Amino acid sequence: MFPEGFLWGGATAANQIEGAYNVDGKGLSVQDILPHGITGAVTDGPTDDNLKLEAIDFYHRYCEDVDLLAEMGFKTFRISFAWSRIFPRGDEAQPNQAGLDFYDRVIDYMIEKGIEPLVTLSHYETPLHIMREYGGFTNRKVIEFFDNYARTVMEHFKGRVRYWLTFNEINSVLHFPIFSGIEGTPEEIGAQNLYQAIHHELVASARATKIAHEIDPENKVGCMILAVPRYPLTPNPDDAMAALIASHDDFAFGDVHVRGEYPGYFKRKLRELNVELNITDADREDLKHTVDFVSFSYYMSVCESATEDKGGEGNLIGGVPNPMLKASEWGWQIDPVGLRYILNEYWDRWQKPLFIVENGLGAKDELENDTVEDDYRIAYLNDHLVQVEEAIKDGVQLLGYTSWGCIDVVSASTAQMSKRYGFIYVDRNDDGSGSLKRYKKKSFNWYKDVIASNGESLTR
Ligand code: BG6
Repeated sequence: MFPEGFLWGGATAANQIEGAYNVDGKGLSVQDILPHGITGAVTDGPTDDNLKLEAIDFYHRYCEDVDLLAEMGFKTFRISFAWSRIFPRGDEAQPNQAGLDFYDRVIDYMIEKGIEPLVTLSHYETPLHIMREYGGFTNRKVIEFFDNYARTVMEHFKGRVRYWLTFNEINSVLHFPIFSGIEGTPEEIGAQNLYQAIHHELVASARATKIAHEIDPENKVGCMILAVPRYPLTPNPDDAMAALIASHDDFAFGDVHVRGEYPGYFKRKLRELNVELNITDADREDLKHTVDFVSFSYYMSVCESATEDKGGEGNLIGGVPNPMLKASEWGWQIDPVGLRYILNEYWDRWQKPLFIVENGLGAKDELENDTVEDDYRIAYLNDHLVQVEEAIKDGVQLLGYTSWGCIDVVSASTAQMSKRYGFIYVDRNDDGSGSLKRYKKKSFNWYKDVIASNGESLTR
């Protein structure tokens, strides 16, 4: 039932795999001051206990890693380019050649192995200089810097990279503004500055889409949304409305990317927050450059209530825990049906091809006899993929599925190595010790079979 040419694969981000944070001219990014992930404190500069600085050393081991992914039969591999590897400060006119050289090596090797590159331009990796000197996307100038970065890599990789994502989980700026280079909590930043930054980022995304299409009409550009189905906690209509209003916070980003203008409910929200956006005529024109597809990450659903307090353990995005669902060891509630639900919701709303570019289970693994018996991961992925198939039967157009952290990566929220998602185990511990050797988990052969059979081997 999975369509022919379905892009099976896996996903990663530069700052969570590459390491080599100061090698070959790379500048620092906002990640380098978050040694304990987004849930930890912000520091002044790189610290010794920052696992992300070394990550899994993909920078030097990419051949071995791509070989393993090719062995699993990957059709696509999602990576991100570290903006600060190519423009170390972010505001230079000319790129750092050594940064481009690295991605040349990686992309060429993927292509040699028959793997279609899927590249995120900005995966929570705004150059630190952009934050310190310009206040990140609160500053309109940053749109130009991003333009220059997008144009540079799209010209350089023309014909080699055809699938591009602009900003990873662009709606997460509402929760974690630092990823967009903005210091402080949303409350400290204030609604006026935060929403102006969101506007600038949306314009930057639309401009990158325009640039991609100008450079090569064959380019396919997607926005990337953190997808969270929001169910009413009870049948109370006020809870249903609370769920809709919370969903609007996520939908707004897709609506602008797909329809090219701000929706009415978003304008109402701005009015109620007393926010007046500075939107130029050129901005309005730019926003009309809409995406070719909508990509998203999916890990959990939440409930919404008009009365109950928010927040469950490990839940970073609001909502109320769902009494019907179990959670992962990190408190993320597991809901395979929610994936079918959101696929239908997005397809009905936007009628654009969809792409699941993150999904997976972060779990503790035990390496024994050079492998991991990760039946729990297989069960999680199997159950989600069965729901994906249901959504395809519902008529949803889906380009592909890339499971998150196909090789173990450093966690974004906690900077732990022990929160593992991969089919490939990387011998590295939370204290930084370990040989960095790679081992195939049981799920490695399971996913290989799923890909080889185009989903037929799933247990229904
Ligand atoms: C997504 C991010 O939000 O979730 C990834 O795009 C991240 O960068 C993934 O790694 C899983 O989160 P965590 O905190 O378990 O690494």
